[in-house]
Amino acid sequence: MTNNKKHLALTVFMITGGYHYDSWRREGSRAEGLGYLDLVVDMAKKAEAAKLDGIFFGDTVSAGKVPGVDPTVAGHYEPLTTLSALAAVTSRIGLIGTASTTFSEPYNVARQFSGLDSLSGGRAGWNVVTSAMGNENYGMDEMPAPADRYARATEFVDVVTKLWDSWSDDAVIVDREGGRWGDPDRIRRIDHQGDHYKVAGPINMRRSPQGHPVLVQAGSSGDGMRLGASIADLIYTAQPDMKLSQKFYDQFKAAVQQAGRRPEAVKILPGIVPIIGRTEKEGQELAAELGNLVNMDTGRTIMEQRLDMSLADIDLDEQIPAERFNLESSRSSRQRTEIFMRLSVEQGYTLRDLIIENARGHGHGWVIGSASQAADRMIEWFESGACDGFSLNSPYIPGGLDDICELLIPELQERGYYRDEYEGTTLREHLGLERPGAWDVQKVRAEEPANAG
Ligand SMILES: Cc1cc2nc3c(=O)[nH]c(=O)nc-3n(C[C@H](O)[C@H](O)[C@H](O)COP(=O)(O)O)c2cc1C
Repeated sequence: MTNNKKHLALTVFMITGGYHYDSWRREGSRAEGLGYLDLVVDMAKKAEAAKLDGIFFGDTVSAGKVPGVDPTVAGHYEPLTTLSALAAVTSRIGLIGTASTTFSEPYNVARQFSGLDSLSGGRAGWNVVTSAMGNENYGMDEMPAPADRYARATEFVDVVTKLWDSWSDDAVIVDREGGRWGDPDRIRRIDHQGDHYKVAGPINMRRSPQGHPVLVQAGSSGDGMRLGASIADLIYTAQPDMKLSQKFYDQFKAAVQQAGRRPEAVKILPGIVPIIGRTEKEGQELAAELGNLVNMDTGRTIMEQRLDMSLADIDLDEQIPAERFNLESSRSSRQRTEIFMRLSVEQGYTLRDLIIENARGHGHGWVIGSASQAADRMIEWFESGACDGFSLNSPYIPGGLDDICELLIPELQERGYYRDEYEGTTLREHLGLERPGAWDVQKVRAEEPANAG
């Protein structure tokens, strides 16, 4: 069916409680099993049967403002342990996990993702985040300022990629006769010494199938975009409005070019919550049902955390005063604050409206209706230069993921915007991304005369 060579890049965000904050309250949700293996195995297998490019686990290293109230909080599943378990029961789907540069060391992260890449046959991806909370668990009195976090992140990723490149692809020789498994001449120290890290290297494991696990990033501030433009293969972003998404897309691709890379080398994936059914009416009924489940008390707490402000004195039917929005907070995402501020200040949303919007989309775009209508919208965004694909968020679990896999994906396949089968075996191949060369290939390239080829 697919004759359209350009197809969407699609990953699914494994928010195991359901993306809608209160959807775990539905009859038939799997809220009792959150944190256990069965749930994620079922979800991963379903996503793989639908030929999605990858599954994605977010992560935070804090139990949140009020522990236990928010079952969607990323953290029920520690990404690396979970993805390692899922590598064993899947064979093609990409396995993307989050690790924070603020609360880890490059040598650990390089080994974890290289290991996952080797164990999974080339399916690993690392979502590079600088984190907005968790300092209290790592001996820090305050969260470091965003600029400091990004300075550290930039050097961190540099060290990790140098470690990944420290073994050439042919360093493992398995010379039984000569008694040499690896060739030390093809393995190089990195001798990194920077402002934040001192790492001799090399890594102590063979180069993994993808060379570099796929690098994912979601920064939206100036520093965040600069880092993403220079290192990322995939960009996640919250874009509820098509025109603004086109603007972001153009700005980002220009930044990629400025960083000396091809714009096509980076795929931009806004989030989307498809609240869908077989018909428009079914989609609307689902949206109404989810809307009725919203717990305003919990919603207020989650909103306070998202916007990093107290809302105790604001009535649900009042608006948040414009001057309270703090775009410079180091404990919240500027992009999300801007989205909710726009709704409040420009569109007159009350606190109640904001809580409902946050429960439904967390600041991402959503679409209510039939699977066919959701496909229309995704194709419109794709064709109009607003994105290269989407990060799919299932409004509820398990049925919301079934609807994505069994209604929406076939609709996109039917219209030639998604492939019917995996065409490669690695995540890079699914996404049409090049495989980077190791240190020896880079050395040869650097020594080639400028006008060669
Ligand atoms: C789809 C998506 C997923 C994200 N996942 C995480 C995550 O798992 N952990 C985390 O700490 N931050 C996560 N972030 C936040 C980003 O890493 C980033 O901090 C945020 O978008 C704000 O950008 P800035 O840091 O440049 O201000 C995510 C953002 C988006 C859009």
